[in-house]
Amino acid sequence: MRSEGSQPPSAARPAPRAAGDAPGRGVLHRYRDHLPITAATPMISLGEGDTPLVRSTSIVKDLGCEALYFKLESCNPTGSFKDRGMVVAVAKAMEEGATAIMCASTGNTSASAAAYAGRYGLECYVVIPDGRVARGKMAQGVSHGAQILAVDGSFDDALRIARELTSRQPIALVNSVNPFRIEGQKTASFEIADTLGEAPDVLAIPVGNAGNITAYWRGFVEYHRMERTGVRPRMRGFQAAGAAPLVHGAPVKSPQTVASAIRIGNPASWRTAIEARDESGGAIEAVSDDEILDAYRRLAREEGIFCEPASAACVAGVLKSADAGESFAGKTVVCIITGSGLKDPETALQTEAEVHHLPADVDVIEREMGWASSR
Ligand code: F0G
Repeated sequence: MRSEGSQPPSAARPAPRAAGDAPGRGVLHRYRDHLPITAATPMISLGEGDTPLVRSTSIVKDLGCEALYFKLESCNPTGSFKDRGMVVAVAKAMEEGATAIMCASTGNTSASAAAYAGRYGLECYVVIPDGRVARGKMAQGVSHGAQILAVDGSFDDALRIARELTSRQPIALVNSVNPFRIEGQKTASFEIADTLGEAPDVLAIPVGNAGNITAYWRGFVEYHRMERTGVRPRMRGFQAAGAAPLVHGAPVKSPQTVASAIRIGNPASWRTAIEARDESGGAIEAVSDDEILDAYRRLAREEGIFCEPASAACVAGVLKSADAGESFAGKTVVCIITGSGLKDPETALQTEAEVHHLPADVDVIEREMGWASSR
């Protein structure tokens, strides 16, 4: 973390490159007809989007649905779904002549902002709740050269500060209150519908600041309006029980959960999340930290999917609903795996590990492991 006085945003960095960064790939290139792109928008890319939709082989049995899929947004360039929206927000900021960007973050938005800023020569300032960001995400922000403003407060405090600072300083705000972020993130819905040939019946998604549920719903509504799909999914949002303002209908003053990415007490996209819930006939519900961690471990052990705890909240949520008697019979369910498990090694390593400490000797290893020698 840098502690020296921050330099004013400068244009001293190399001029942004214009196009052709990831030929044939990237959200701007693939979805240009669905995005607010003009002739002046730089077609930047880190190759984001086009993430795998992986069919469940194990957890599906507990849901009793026709098919369960995981959309691996963890496979985006910086390891989370944020890149889809960030590439649009950064491109539009560059189009408007910005030389500096800022975001508040629980860690993934900042990692993404820092990566694009580094690549395109922008100054990047990230405002984070001090001491509450998972280590992998901190490592990303630091490595990409962002200036980190660690404030003594929650994410909600950080967002308030970022909004105020960007209203006073010539710095573009790239949080999901920036409408271009939502535009980019909606492209994940298009991919799901294109891959399945239809929208799913149920879309399960973790909810923090509520930009992503807003974006997915917008994507499904747009595709349906264009008659690319015949149905729209029910949006099932899941918050951590200790950080569930949308479930309680009131802000939470000090949100608590193991899922640090969604430790948010007053979501910026509150109204649009409720609209997504109501227009889709869906629900926004809470899951406990134990339920989140159980789903987190099951995803890793049974499905080969190492995600961060926040991502597991949506899998925990549908499992909980099935357990409570909800029938998913005949339904296609998609869970959004929003971020990679590598982001939060601390939580992963709290799992009781089966590590055998051994000498570098095959005979001893065979003996210690209880394996008969074949010689
Ligand atoms: N999952 C992960 C891994 C996240 O990082 C976030 C949000 C969410 C889910 C929730 O998405 O906020 O659109 O409802 N992370 C933000 C950040 C807050 O700063 O990285 P949301």
